[in-house]
Amino acid sequence: MTNSNSLFFRALNKEGLKTPPIWYMRQAGRYMPEYRAVRKKFNNFLDMCKNPDVCCELALQPINAFDLDAAILFSDILTIPDALGLGVNFVENEGPVFKNPINNSKDIDNLNIFNPDELKYVYQAVTNIKNSLSNNIPLIGFSGSPWTLAAYSIEGKSSKDFKKTLNFINENTNKSHIFLNALTDACFLYLREQVKAGADVIQIFDSWANILDENRFNEFSMQYINKLTYALKNDKVTSKTPIILFSRDPKCNNQTLVNNSGADCLSLYWNMQDFDLNIARNKVSLQGNLDPRILLEPKDKIKYQTHKILDKFKDYPGYIFNLGHGITPDINPDNIKYLTEVVREY
Ligand code: CP3
Repeated sequence: MTNSNSLFFRALNKEGLKTPPIWYMRQAGRYMPEYRAVRKKFNNFLDMCKNPDVCCELALQPINAFDLDAAILFSDILTIPDALGLGVNFVENEGPVFKNPINNSKDIDNLNIFNPDELKYVYQAVTNIKNSLSNNIPLIGFSGSPWTLAAYSIEGKSSKDFKKTLNFINENTNKSHIFLNALTDACFLYLREQVKAGADVIQIFDSWANILDENRFNEFSMQYINKLTYALKNDKVTSKTPIILFSRDPKCNNQTLVNNSGADCLSLYWNMQDFDLNIARNKVSLQGNLDPRILLEPKDKIKYQTHKILDKFKDYPGYIFNLGHGITPDINPDNIKYLTEVVREY
């Protein structure tokens, strides 16, 4: 059991704290030499994700290096499309590439029904990580949002504009909703197994929320996030597990995020600087908001920008320190160490 007095749980309970808990999106990754040393033993990134002992080692690397207040499962959001038979590969300098992307509505009819047992390697990693952490460090489990998983599955790769996906949902609107419902069920079953295996908190990554206009965001993304959080909050296993939603720069009214997502905490993208804290106060905790690019600057700039964020959130009941998006491979680990010190000394 994780100590509910941990800083991270207290912030998720909307408690005002002198020093916020700290963790970083993509805290385990290529920016760390320790990660690169393990990574080079595997050709295929997903093969590495399928090894629970290695995932455990990787999840602990940033905890050991920076003494953070929460760990995150080492895995990827694309495990679900992989389990659905879409053939996910990670190609160097290209990111994910799907062998069998969704090209037409028949491809949706022919999809496998998600079997949560196919991702046992993930739940085993959760248990291994949980058993290796001290009990004041909670473990975050995660999934992609239904929309973000659909976008990768249809596009078949990363893209700037996701044109194929946006055309597909226009031309096959009903089938897209069938697919999004299936992905919502899959995310629910997947997250439920992660919680059973030891995850203390859930984060949902809606990394491609930003490509939808407001109406389409509500129809194709928020509707399913709401269904997913509702299912989690009404299930015996997951009803007490706090949910964090990272929605990347959604083109919706911020009130919608606070009132309709069903999340306990909103993770703010770095460009959401004008998010009005008063609409969220005492309703949800907040996380993040610092521009990760700051970490490429000299130390005095890092300190200045970090103090600005900490000033903004200092009276907010339930703030979790994090970046507004993930750590990128070009960031120097020394600057992560420095950033963490700046927050704790503030
Ligand atoms: O500490 C951690 O956060 C590690 C666990 C983690 C990974 N991916 C490992 C990973 C988490 C939480 C993710 C989430 C994820 N994966 C997201 C949502 C977060 C976000 O950035 O918006 C998304 C969109 C993905 C999909 C994905 N995975 C892409 C597009 C890529 C390629 C781009 C890239 O950064 O290389 C990945 C690969 C990936 N996932 C790596 C890691 C450590 C790098 C793979 C490598 O070492 O070759």
